[in-house]
Amino acid sequence: MERLKRRAAPLAALCAAGLVALASCEVGQAPPRRQVSDGDPALGRAAFGKYGCGGCHVIPGVDRAAGRVAPPLGAFSQRAFVAGVLSNTPDNLIAWIRHPQQISPRTAMPDLGVTPEDARDMAAYLYSLDPG
Ligand code: HEC
Repeated sequence: MERLKRRAAPLAALCAAGLVALASCEVGQAPPRRQVSDGDPALGRAAFGKYGCGGCHVIPGVDRAAGRVAPPLGAFSQRAFVAGVLSNTPDNLIAWIRHPQQISPRTAMPDLGVTPEDARDMAAYLYSLDPG
């Protein structure tokens, strides 16, 4: 019995440490989920052409998306920020695509009237790109 107790103590300490680590993760440090669960990357890929995103951005895998006006959008899942101002989460990326000037009033990226569905699908496509 005594022996058992002695062996159990370090285990309990480890569990407690694990719990503490988990709890602190949940408070502020959880890594963003860089996936759009209900987005369709194939539809997103087609939507870039509809809005002319490729006139300003290089978007790997999208026809004629070779613009050099704005940052290339390859490996987007690896970015820490969206446009340098928002952390890179699905909701923030969608918000940026829909209304960039609400987020950065002086940005050169125009509000192109992107629908919520198209923004969601485009975000899904961007996150599906090879991290490189
Ligand atoms: C007229 C040029 C132009 C068009 C068209 C345009 N953008 Fe942009 N976009 C920009 C510029 C400029 C930036 C950099 C903004 C900033 O940092 O303030 C940007 C930034 C971005 C970013 C963030 C990039 C990063 O490195 O964090 C994403 C994502 C993005 N655009 C997606 C799109 C999508 C999707 C479309 C089409 C719906 C689109 N853009 C159309 C000019 C454009």
